[in-house]
Amino acid sequence: MVDAINILKEKRKAIILSHYYQDKEIQDIADFIGDSLELSRQAANTNADVIVFCGVHFMAETAKILCPNKTVLLPDIEAGCTLADDCPADEFRKFRKKHPNHIVVSYINCTAAVKAQSDLICTSSNAVDLVKQLPKDRPILFAPDKNLGKWVQKRSGRELTFWPGSCVVHETFSEEALLKLKIEHPEAEIIAHPECQSNLLDLANFIGSTSKLLQRVEESSSNTFIVLTEPGILHQMEIKVPGKKYLEVPGIDGCSCNACPYMRLNTLEKLLSCLQKMSPKIEMDEKLRSKAFIPIKKMLEMSK
Ligand code: 13P
Ligand code: SF4
Repeated sequence: MVDAINILKEKRKAIILSHYYQDKEIQDIADFIGDSLELSRQAANTNADVIVFCGVHFMAETAKILCPNKTVLLPDIEAGCTLADDCPADEFRKFRKKHPNHIVVSYINCTAAVKAQSDLICTSSNAVDLVKQLPKDRPILFAPDKNLGKWVQKRSGRELTFWPGSCVVHETFSEEALLKLKIEHPEAEIIAHPECQSNLLDLANFIGSTSKLLQRVEESSSNTFIVLTEPGILHQMEIKVPGKKYLEVPGIDGCSCNACPYMRLNTLEKLLSCLQKMSPKIEMDEKLRSKAFIPIKKMLEMSK
Protein backbone atom coordinates (compact mmCIF):
# COMPACT_ATOMS: atom_id res chain seq x y z
CA MET A 1 0.00 0.00 0.00
CA VAL A 2 2.86 2.38 0.84
CA ASP A 3 4.45 1.71 -2.58
CA ALA A 4 1.11 2.23 -4.34
CA ILE A 5 0.61 5.55 -2.53
CA ASN A 6 4.12 6.73 -3.39
CA ILE A 7 3.76 5.83 -7.08
CA LEU A 8 0.40 7.57 -7.34
CA LYS A 9 1.69 10.57 -5.40
CA GLU A 10 4.43 11.09 -8.03
CA LYS A 11 1.97 10.61 -10.88
CA ARG A 12 -0.48 13.17 -9.48
CA LYS A 13 2.31 15.62 -8.51
CA ALA A 14 0.90 15.51 -5.00
CA ILE A 15 2.28 16.40 -1.59
CA ILE A 16 1.11 14.57 1.55
CA LEU A 17 0.77 16.79 4.61
CA SER A 18 0.15 15.19 7.99
CA HIS A 19 -0.78 16.58 11.39
CA TYR A 20 0.96 15.03 14.41
CA TYR A 21 -2.34 13.45 15.48
CA GLN A 22 -2.46 11.07 12.51
CA ASP A 23 -1.75 7.33 12.78
CA LYS A 24 1.96 6.39 12.69
CA GLU A 25 1.64 4.82 9.23
CA ILE A 26 0.35 8.10 7.81
CA GLN A 27 3.02 10.19 9.54
CA ASP A 28 5.66 7.83 8.15
CA ILE A 29 4.53 8.28 4.55
CA ALA A 30 3.98 12.07 4.72
CA ASP A 31 6.22 14.61 2.99
CA PHE A 32 5.73 16.99 5.88
CA ILE A 33 4.44 16.61 9.46
CA GLY A 34 3.57 19.66 11.48
CA ASP A 35 1.21 21.63 13.69
CA SER A 36 -1.64 23.72 12.32
CA LEU A 37 0.51 26.79 11.64
CA GLU A 38 3.36 24.89 9.95
CA LEU A 39 0.91 22.91 7.83
CA SER A 40 -0.77 26.14 6.66
CA ARG A 41 2.64 27.55 5.73
CA GLN A 42 3.56 24.38 3.83
CA ALA A 43 0.25 24.43 1.96
CA ALA A 44 0.73 28.11 1.06
CA ASN A 45 4.23 27.51 -0.33
CA THR A 46 4.01 24.16 -2.11
CA ASN A 47 4.57 23.75 -5.86
CA ALA A 48 2.60 20.51 -5.94
CA ASP A 49 -0.61 20.31 -8.00
CA VAL A 50 -2.43 18.29 -5.37
CA ILE A 51 -2.40 18.60 -1.58
CA VAL A 52 -3.44 15.47 0.30
CA PHE A 53 -4.30 16.79 3.75
CA CYS A 54 -4.06 14.10 6.41
CA GLY A 55 -5.72 16.02 9.18
CA VAL A 56 -9.26 17.27 9.74
CA HIS A 57 -11.72 19.22 7.59
CA PHE A 58 -10.92 22.75 8.82
CA MET A 59 -7.22 22.14 8.03
CA ALA A 60 -7.91 20.96 4.47
CA GLU A 61 -10.30 23.89 4.07
CA THR A 62 -7.55 26.28 5.19
CA ALA A 63 -5.24 24.77 2.54
CA LYS A 64 -7.94 25.34 -0.09
CA ILE A 65 -8.42 28.94 1.06
CA LEU A 66 -4.66 29.50 0.66
CA CYS A 67 -4.37 27.58 -2.65
CA PRO A 68 -7.64 27.97 -4.60
CA ASN A 69 -6.14 26.61 -7.82
CA LYS A 70 -4.86 23.40 -6.31
CA THR A 71 -6.79 20.20 -5.69
CA VAL A 72 -7.04 19.59 -1.95
CA LEU A 73 -7.94 16.04 -0.92
CA LEU A 74 -9.01 14.90 2.55
CA PRO A 75 -8.88 11.08 2.91
CA ASP A 76 -12.07 11.00 5.03
CA ILE A 77 -14.43 13.92 4.44
CA GLU A 78 -16.15 13.16 7.78
CA ALA A 79 -12.97 14.09 9.69
CA GLY A 80 -14.44 17.03 11.60
CA CYS A 81 -13.57 18.73 14.89
CA THR A 82 -15.76 19.51 17.92
CA LEU A 83 -14.44 23.08 18.02
CA ALA A 84 -15.45 23.77 14.42
CA ASP A 85 -18.73 21.83 14.67
CA ASP A 86 -19.86 23.61 17.85
CA CYS A 87 -19.47 27.07 16.38
CA PRO A 88 -22.09 27.36 13.61
CA ALA A 89 -21.69 30.41 11.35
CA ASP A 90 -25.21 31.81 11.96
CA GLU A 91 -24.89 31.57 15.77
CA PHE A 92 -21.46 33.12 15.52
CA ARG A 93 -22.92 36.04 13.54
CA LYS A 94 -25.40 36.72 16.38
CA PHE A 95 -22.60 36.52 18.94
CA ARG A 96 -20.52 39.04 16.97
CA LYS A 97 -23.47 41.39 16.64
CA LYS A 98 -23.80 41.51 20.43
CA HIS A 99 -20.18 42.77 20.57
CA PRO A 100 -19.91 45.19 17.64
CA ASN A 101 -16.76 47.01 18.82
CA HIS A 102 -14.71 43.89 19.42
CA ILE A 103 -11.82 42.64 17.31
CA VAL A 104 -12.75 39.07 16.34
CA VAL A 105 -9.89 36.59 16.79
CA SER A 106 -10.71 33.01 15.77
CA TYR A 107 -8.65 29.93 16.40
CA ILE A 108 -7.89 28.17 13.10
CA ASN A 109 -10.07 25.24 14.34
CA CYS A 110 -13.24 26.75 12.86
CA THR A 111 -15.11 26.59 9.54
CA ALA A 112 -14.40 28.82 6.54
CA ALA A 113 -17.74 30.55 7.23
CA VAL A 114 -16.53 31.54 10.72
CA LYS A 115 -13.10 32.54 9.41
CA ALA A 116 -14.85 34.82 6.90
CA GLN A 117 -16.45 36.68 9.84
CA SER A 118 -13.15 37.08 11.73
CA ASP A 119 -10.59 39.87 11.78
CA LEU A 120 -7.68 37.59 12.58
CA ILE A 121 -6.99 33.85 12.69
CA CYS A 122 -4.55 32.33 15.17
CA THR A 123 -3.20 28.88 15.97
CA SER A 124 -2.12 27.48 19.32
CA SER A 125 1.49 28.34 18.51
CA ASN A 126 1.01 32.04 17.75
CA ALA A 127 -2.19 33.03 19.65
CA VAL A 128 -0.49 34.77 22.59
CA ASP A 129 1.93 36.65 20.37
CA LEU A 130 -0.82 37.82 17.97
CA VAL A 131 -3.24 38.92 20.71
CA LYS A 132 -0.42 40.96 22.32
CA GLN A 133 0.00 42.85 19.03
CA LEU A 134 -3.66 44.00 18.90
CA PRO A 135 -4.55 47.65 19.70
CA LYS A 136 -4.91 48.11 23.47
CA ASP A 137 -8.00 50.33 23.18
CA ARG A 138 -10.17 47.66 21.49
CA PRO A 139 -11.94 44.77 23.25
CA ILE A 140 -11.41 41.26 21.82
CA LEU A 141 -13.73 38.33 21.07
CA PHE A 142 -12.00 34.95 21.08
CA ALA A 143 -13.58 31.87 19.45
CA PRO A 144 -14.21 28.98 19.48
CA ASP A 145 -11.95 27.43 22.18
CA LYS A 146 -12.57 28.83 25.67
CA ASN A 147 -9.70 26.81 27.18
CA LEU A 148 -7.14 28.13 24.73
CA GLY A 149 -8.77 31.57 25.16
CA LYS A 150 -8.35 31.53 28.95
CA TRP A 151 -4.70 30.60 28.57
CA VAL A 152 -4.16 33.36 25.98
CA GLN A 153 -5.87 35.84 28.31
CA LYS A 154 -3.54 34.90 31.16
CA ARG A 155 -0.37 35.01 29.03
CA SER A 156 -1.19 38.15 27.03
CA GLY A 157 -2.68 40.19 29.86
CA ARG A 158 -5.61 41.12 27.56
CA GLU A 159 -9.24 40.74 28.60
CA LEU A 160 -11.06 38.40 26.18
CA THR A 161 -14.72 37.53 25.66
CA PHE A 162 -15.04 33.82 24.85
CA TRP A 163 -17.18 31.68 22.61
CA PRO A 164 -17.93 28.65 24.86
CA GLY A 165 -16.35 25.88 22.74
CA SER A 166 -13.90 23.14 23.70
CA CYS A 167 -12.03 20.16 22.24
CA VAL A 168 -13.53 16.79 23.14
CA VAL A 169 -10.06 15.21 23.25
CA HIS A 170 -8.27 17.72 25.46
CA GLU A 171 -11.25 17.98 27.84
CA THR A 172 -11.16 14.27 28.68
CA PHE A 173 -7.88 14.28 30.62
CA SER A 174 -8.38 13.46 34.28
CA GLU A 175 -6.71 15.63 36.91
CA GLU A 176 -6.78 12.71 39.35
CA ALA A 177 -5.00 10.43 36.85
CA LEU A 178 -2.46 13.16 36.14
CA LEU A 179 -1.68 13.61 39.85
CA LYS A 180 -1.41 9.84 40.28
CA LEU A 181 1.12 9.65 37.41
CA LYS A 182 3.10 12.54 38.86
CA ILE A 183 3.27 10.78 42.25
CA GLU A 184 4.49 7.60 40.51
CA HIS A 185 7.00 9.58 38.41
CA PRO A 186 8.00 12.62 40.52
CA GLU A 187 10.92 13.37 38.18
CA ALA A 188 8.61 13.73 35.14
CA GLU A 189 8.00 17.05 33.45
CA ILE A 190 4.31 17.72 32.66
CA ILE A 191 3.88 19.16 29.17
CA ALA A 192 0.44 20.23 27.92
CA HIS A 193 -1.42 21.58 24.91
CA PRO A 194 -3.30 24.84 25.67
CA GLU A 195 -6.62 23.24 24.60
CA CYS A 196 -6.57 21.44 28.00
CA GLN A 197 -8.70 22.78 30.84
CA SER A 198 -7.12 25.33 33.19
CA ASN A 199 -6.96 22.96 36.23
CA LEU A 200 -4.61 20.74 34.16
CA LEU A 201 -2.66 23.64 32.64
CA ASP A 202 -2.04 24.94 36.18
CA LEU A 203 -0.18 21.69 36.91
CA ALA A 204 1.93 21.80 33.72
CA ASN A 205 5.62 22.71 33.62
CA PHE A 206 5.42 23.65 29.95
CA ILE A 207 2.49 24.59 27.68
CA GLY A 208 2.59 24.85 23.90
CA SER A 209 1.32 23.74 20.49
CA THR A 210 2.15 20.23 19.29
CA SER A 211 5.35 21.44 17.58
CA LYS A 212 6.40 23.34 20.68
CA LEU A 213 5.86 20.23 22.83
CA LEU A 214 8.06 18.27 20.45
CA GLN A 215 10.73 20.96 20.62
CA ARG A 216 10.48 20.95 24.43
CA VAL A 217 11.27 17.24 24.76
CA GLU A 218 14.31 17.78 22.52
CA GLU A 219 15.60 20.74 24.52
CA SER A 220 14.65 19.83 28.10
CA SER A 221 17.12 18.04 30.39
CA SER A 222 14.25 15.88 31.74
CA ASN A 223 14.13 12.24 30.73
CA THR A 224 10.46 11.53 31.49
CA PHE A 225 7.44 13.48 30.25
CA ILE A 226 3.75 13.29 31.08
CA VAL A 227 2.16 14.38 27.81
CA LEU A 228 -1.24 16.10 27.91
CA THR A 229 -2.24 16.06 24.29
CA GLU A 230 -3.38 13.64 21.60
CA PRO A 231 -1.03 10.61 21.70
CA GLY A 232 -0.24 10.77 17.95
CA ILE A 233 2.55 13.21 18.86
CA LEU A 234 4.37 10.47 20.82
CA HIS A 235 5.42 8.85 17.53
CA GLN A 236 7.53 11.88 16.53
CA MET A 237 8.83 12.26 20.11
CA GLU A 238 10.01 8.64 20.02
CA ILE A 239 11.65 9.16 16.61
CA LYS A 240 13.30 12.51 17.40
CA VAL A 241 14.29 11.82 21.02
CA PRO A 242 14.27 8.03 21.37
CA GLY A 243 15.99 7.65 24.74
CA LYS A 244 13.30 9.41 26.79
CA LYS A 245 10.08 8.13 28.40
CA TYR A 246 6.67 9.53 27.36
CA LEU A 247 3.60 8.87 29.49
CA GLU A 248 -0.01 9.26 28.34
CA VAL A 249 -2.71 10.47 30.74
CA PRO A 250 -6.00 8.51 30.91
CA GLY A 251 -9.40 10.15 30.47
CA ILE A 252 -11.84 11.15 33.22
CA ASP A 253 -13.49 7.72 33.53
CA GLY A 254 -10.24 5.81 33.06
CA CYS A 255 -10.76 5.45 29.29
CA SER A 256 -7.98 5.76 26.71
CA CYS A 257 -10.24 8.07 24.73
CA ASN A 258 -7.72 10.82 24.14
CA ALA A 259 -7.02 9.74 20.54
CA CYS A 260 -8.93 12.24 18.37
CA PRO A 261 -11.85 10.30 16.83
CA TYR A 262 -11.88 12.66 13.83
CA MET A 263 -8.17 12.69 13.06
CA ARG A 264 -8.10 8.90 13.31
CA LEU A 265 -10.78 8.49 10.63
CA ASN A 266 -8.01 8.86 8.05
CA THR A 267 -6.29 5.56 7.20
CA LEU A 268 -3.68 4.40 4.68
CA GLU A 269 -6.50 2.71 2.69
CA LYS A 270 -8.43 5.99 2.46
CA LEU A 271 -5.24 7.87 1.58
CA LEU A 272 -4.62 5.53 -1.34
CA SER A 273 -8.26 5.66 -2.39
CA CYS A 274 -8.40 9.47 -2.43
CA LEU A 275 -5.32 9.58 -4.69
CA GLN A 276 -6.90 7.00 -7.01
CA LYS A 277 -10.30 8.70 -7.21
CA MET A 278 -9.08 12.28 -6.67
CA SER A 279 -11.89 12.47 -4.13
CA PRO A 280 -13.06 13.47 -1.52
CA LYS A 281 -11.90 16.95 -2.44
CA ILE A 282 -12.54 20.32 -0.80
CA GLU A 283 -14.77 22.61 -2.85
CA MET A 284 -15.51 26.19 -1.86
CA ASP A 285 -17.51 29.12 -3.08
CA GLU A 286 -15.03 31.80 -4.29
CA LYS A 287 -16.78 34.64 -2.43
CA LEU A 288 -16.50 32.74 0.85
CA ARG A 289 -12.91 31.73 0.12
CA SER A 290 -11.72 35.24 -0.60
CA LYS A 291 -13.34 36.56 2.62
CA ALA A 292 -11.86 33.75 4.71
CA PHE A 293 -8.43 34.36 3.13
CA ILE A 294 -8.09 37.89 4.59
CA PRO A 295 -7.73 36.97 8.31
CA ILE A 296 -5.52 33.96 7.48
CA LYS A 297 -3.19 36.15 5.39
CA LYS A 298 -3.10 38.63 8.26
CA MET A 299 -2.09 35.82 10.64
CA LEU A 300 0.72 34.66 8.34
CA GLU A 301 2.01 38.23 8.01
CA MET A 302 1.80 38.97 11.75
CA SER A 303 3.48 35.71 12.80
CA LYS A 304 6.51 35.86 10.52
P1 13P B 1 -1.84 22.54 16.94
O1 13P B 1 -1.66 21.86 15.65
O2 13P B 1 -1.85 24.04 16.76
O3 13P B 1 -0.91 22.11 17.98
O4 13P B 1 -3.33 22.21 17.45
C1 13P B 1 -3.71 20.95 17.84
C2 13P B 1 -5.07 20.57 17.43
O5 13P B 1 -5.92 20.24 18.20
C3 13P B 1 -5.35 20.53 16.04
O6 13P B 1 -6.63 20.16 15.87
FE1 SF4 C 1 -10.55 19.12 16.97
FE2 SF4 C 1 -9.65 18.35 19.33
FE3 SF4 C 1 -9.53 16.66 17.29
FE4 SF4 C 1 -7.93 18.82 17.34
S1 SF4 C 1 -7.88 17.10 18.75
S2 SF4 C 1 -9.12 18.09 15.63
S3 SF4 C 1 -9.25 20.32 18.37
S4 SF4 C 1 -11.40 17.49 18.23
